[in-house]
Amino acid sequence: MQTIVPENKYSIKYFPDKIQKWEKEGNFFYFHTSETILEVRIISDKVIRFRYAADGIFKRDFSYAVSPELKESIIAFQITELEDVFQISTSKINVLVGKEDLKITITDQSGQVVNQDEMGFHWQYYLLKGGKIVYCSKQIQEGESFFGVGDKPTELNLRSKRLENFGTDSYGFKKDTDPLYKNIPFYYGLHHGIGYGIFFDNTFRTLFDFGQERPEAASYWARGGQMNYYFIYGPQLLEVAEQYTRLTGTPELPPLWALGYQQSRWSYFPDTRVKEIAQEFRSRHLPCDAIHLDIDYMEGFRCFTFSQENFPDPAALTTELAAMGFKTVAIIDPGIKVDPDYWIYQQGIEKGYFCKRADGALMEGDVWPGKCVFPDFTNPDVRKWWSQLFKKMADLGIRGIWNDMNEPAVFEIGTFPEDVRHDYDGDNCSHRKAHNIYGHLMSMATAEGVKKHLMPHRPFVITRSCYAGAQRWTSVWTGDNLATWEHLWLASVMVQRLSISGISFAGSDIGGFIGEPDGELYIRWLQLATFHPFMRTHSASNETNFDQDPWSFGEKIEHIARKFLGLRYRLLPYLYTTFWQYAAHGTPMLRPLCFVAQDDPETHYRDDAFMLGDHLLISPVNQAAMKSKDVYLPRGEWYYYWNDRKFEGGETVTIPTPLNEIPLFVKAGAVIPKYPHMEYVGEKRIIEMTLHVYYSDQAAHSILYEDAGDNYGHLEGQYNVIRFKQISDANQVRLKKKYIGNFKSDYLRYRIIFHGVPFEATEYVVDGKVRRLGARNFAVGTVKVVVDRVFEEIIIR
Ligand code: GLC
Repeated sequence: MQTIVPENKYSIKYFPDKIQKWEKEGNFFYFHTSETILEVRIISDKVIRFRYAADGIFKRDFSYAVSPELKESIIAFQITELEDVFQISTSKINVLVGKEDLKITITDQSGQVVNQDEMGFHWQYYLLKGGKIVYCSKQIQEGESFFGVGDKPTELNLRSKRLENFGTDSYGFKKDTDPLYKNIPFYYGLHHGIGYGIFFDNTFRTLFDFGQERPEAASYWARGGQMNYYFIYGPQLLEVAEQYTRLTGTPELPPLWALGYQQSRWSYFPDTRVKEIAQEFRSRHLPCDAIHLDIDYMEGFRCFTFSQENFPDPAALTTELAAMGFKTVAIIDPGIKVDPDYWIYQQGIEKGYFCKRADGALMEGDVWPGKCVFPDFTNPDVRKWWSQLFKKMADLGIRGIWNDMNEPAVFEIGTFPEDVRHDYDGDNCSHRKAHNIYGHLMSMATAEGVKKHLMPHRPFVITRSCYAGAQRWTSVWTGDNLATWEHLWLASVMVQRLSISGISFAGSDIGGFIGEPDGELYIRWLQLATFHPFMRTHSASNETNFDQDPWSFGEKIEHIARKFLGLRYRLLPYLYTTFWQYAAHGTPMLRPLCFVAQDDPETHYRDDAFMLGDHLLISPVNQAAMKSKDVYLPRGEWYYYWNDRKFEGGETVTIPTPLNEIPLFVKAGAVIPKYPHMEYVGEKRIIEMTLHVYYSDQAAHSILYEDAGDNYGHLEGQYNVIRFKQISDANQVRLKKKYIGNFKSDYLRYRIIFHGVPFEATEYVVDGKVRRLGARNFAVGTVKVVVDRVFEEIIIR
């Protein structure tokens, strides 16, 4: 064993020494030094896991993040012994393991270094707490950028930043507040046009340093547990994102209504107020699908109860709301009130389901209800018990559950003391190891229960805290933000970052949770959120009596809100298709510019624009009184959504920003599907789907996914994946359509609107049948036709 000369006797750092022997077992390689063993697991030709036993003994191989469906998908790889290294090669990359020091280098097929250990794996005994601090440091390559790590409220590119994962209740967080609510120990590196990812699967407090401590090193470490990381090769960042998401699990499709607009406040009460809000939406024709009940629906903040006084008949309430097209979502926190007369408390005590301190006393702490105890969600029996509690909620007509305060938050002391004990699925541990997965497992147990008891409906769950992989069962929001312009920008960056960290189903409290936005800030935020997968207004306005509803800022703002909520609903088929791509392939729904144009260095430090799905580019207005905005467009052709003006990408364009528009661009070649106007999902039968086709002389592909939007028929083939291909030239536009699937959609025809047609069209040909274009088919630069749903090819000429 080699050592580094200590600063003091507690900080000796230990390093592996030379390899003495190696062995192979299937897809696993083991390299033994005098004390340390390195296990290399070949998962695919691009994904390799590295796991170290510092002193020769591996800990249990267990993960709350990795998808249970993960399987090796590779048979062809080989090992070669070279002079200084062992080289394991797949068809895409080579892993070089240093014979003298166990250091790792990863190269691509051309021999270019993708990632290389600097000090590599090393460790330190953690004398004060027990166990080890495990480190890994990598060399920063020339011009390297870093991305990822969950919800951090800072610039998108993480170069020269240090970040920490230790879920924290961060009421009123600021730019650069760290740690925050979520714990996603996963990052991307990008240099020389090559992207890769590293997922450090360790639930202890983890730290990441991208050149802040030492400009030449990117390192990550954990205050306990083992060094266990997955290396994911791209070279495209988007491919890394897809593989990471598949590694930690893809989500199921949500009910379509959950992609609609949702309205919340801490709190709407009593029940008559909730109904009033619902009626306001309908009478003002503001589209909305869900209303959230914050903690005041409960009896003294006791979870799974309803206030006798304020919500005497919850089933009647949810029924009435449902009749108006609203789904009810209710909050559930982990803190269970200490109250010997309360059934949940009684059951938990009787079964020993609440967390205990090291000396055996219950872990007690204050949250909303006063003194509370907390279920140990790391115990599978507790999760089972918890999940069946949602039967009651489902029976009362609750269609979604909102999990909060699950970092876990405890007033005054912040969170649990470190000595609290956890089951950790049969591998008892202290809170140091379980802290970062507490909210994760709470939301998992919640989602299991909600799903089971809502059958045949699809569940909706949202959580504030989680660990990597939570996308399998939950959506998230960014927590207690502020009504400021800086927070609007932060919301945009954080939702992008969550999206590339595996969690696309994310959004922020529109208008800000704390403080009072003016109409301008509110509407600019709502415009941004129109393009966020989770779209909800929420605010802590109970404290100030300040209303934050779309009509609270006067008629002008309400009018613009109606326009954007309307747009949200018309875009649902596009959003849902984008969600399907995420669910089927792991493709993030929001894509920072760098993730769509990584070869263009102009994109590497930009975070004020992003793409939603394959075709829409959004650049939110994030300053007051902004008259115009400079937007950098990646290479290619773009249409300005609001007037069809065409732009050549690869440069910055200046766009006027009247209050009723957000800079929004469509990629040339796109087919954007749209629903007719609606005020909530299921309001009416959709008999016509509109396709907006944006002319391009380059062949272009688009997808439309459709199914019933609820229930599970899509798992039995009742879905359609419709693929469009546009192949056009200076004289004609040709759109081909192919589909697979068995879903009988309601609509009978497509209204197709061709934008940017560069010639005088006189006729259109549908599946070989020629028809003349009449006057009604034209508007400026556009051609409109209506065709039967079953068409296979349409040509405009
Ligand atoms: C936390 C949540 C917030 C919620 C409040 C009351 O601050 O983050 O969204 O409204 O608790 O439940």
